Amino acid sequence: MKHSADLYLSNRLNERKQAGNFRTLKPENTDLIDFSSNDYLGFAHSLVLKQLIADELAKHPNHLNGSTGSRLLSGNLGYAEDLERWIANYHSHEAGLLFNSGYDANLGLFSSLPQRGDTVITDELIHASIIDGIRLSNANRYTFRHNDLTSLEEKLKNAKGQIYVVVESVYSMDGDIAPITTMLDLTKKYNAQLIVDEAHAIGVFGKGIIDELNLQQEIFACVITFGKAMGTHGAIVLGSNLLREYLVNFARSFIYSTAASFHQLAAIKMAYRLLDEAQSEIEKLHINIQLLNKYLVDFQIGSESKSAIHCVLVGSNEKAKHISEKLKDAGIDIRPVLSPTVAVGTERLRICMHAYNTHQQIELLANTLNKLIK
Ligand SMILES: Cc1ncc(COP(=O)(O)O)c(C=O)c1O
Repeated sequence: MKHSADLYLSNRLNERKQAGNFRTLKPENTDLIDFSSNDYLGFAHSLVLKQLIADELAKHPNHLNGSTGSRLLSGNLGYAEDLERWIANYHSHEAGLLFNSGYDANLGLFSSLPQRGDTVITDELIHASIIDGIRLSNANRYTFRHNDLTSLEEKLKNAKGQIYVVVESVYSMDGDIAPITTMLDLTKKYNAQLIVDEAHAIGVFGKGIIDELNLQQEIFACVITFGKAMGTHGAIVLGSNLLREYLVNFARSFIYSTAASFHQLAAIKMAYRLLDEAQSEIEKLHINIQLLNKYLVDFQIGSESKSAIHCVLVGSNEKAKHISEKLKDAGIDIRPVLSPTVAVGTERLRICMHAYNTHQQIELLANTLNKLIK
């Protein structure tokens, strides 16, 4: 071995191989039917969006290829600040701050907001980016049972300092929806602040679930990511002007990172333009979701989901990988989700539905899955 640290690296990798959860990067395979990407509305594939972005870039011929620095140094574009105001207004929040990714947004928000002595209570299935952010803070972190209000209240009763409760409106691995309105009542009772990650809700539910419920003024903050239904990349934290100012001063993933390029900002702006015209794509997506629900329930292989994410539990890493390989042989791209990404025993196939999947593709998926699982 070349370096003294190599032994540790290879031992850890061998442990992964033995546990059946060794990760490798796979080359893209565009021949397969896409039931795995987060491109729920087809924006990432959209030639209309590509053209809108090209036109927007052409309108700003002097734009730079890169932003040249962080937002607090040379990288702050007036275009970025206008876009933040526009997006905040679109979602009926006072202000917004762009981050280079959803991971960066959650890392910056949760590492800077709660302080030593404060408490952050998250759903047990909360995304890794939120867990990592809280870990970087000095706050206490507790989890409550998934979507369970009794469990949440137990944690709220014992919480100290300023309390934050964090949920996803649509859960990334299970596809189910948090009971946000009741959670909000509970958080009010304990003077806690509710923060909602809308990564898998934006686009799938129009402006998102917080907008559907009209709770913008009630929650403390909301995280929207652009890499899923919006088909681009980046994220924004929405909330008050005060929160925005705080994050500009204390969110380290914002402060110490090169700002997004003009191209990325233009892509986000144009994705919002497309979203406003995407009603028929949203309807197609929901018709497809209903169709898959029907198959999963009729074949008794999965449960209904209202979102674009469906999961079929198979119970082990080996089984999940095996079925995913067999699906690939049938021309279908569905990725296995293995432990430790999900809890042991809940290893699964995660099916992502899209507006562009055809009814024949969904039928093929359901029949193939049914044969493989039984
Ligand atoms: C709920 C949730 N939040 C945040 C993120 C991170 O967003 P991004 O992919 O833009 O870094 C993800 C991505 O998987 C997610 O599922």
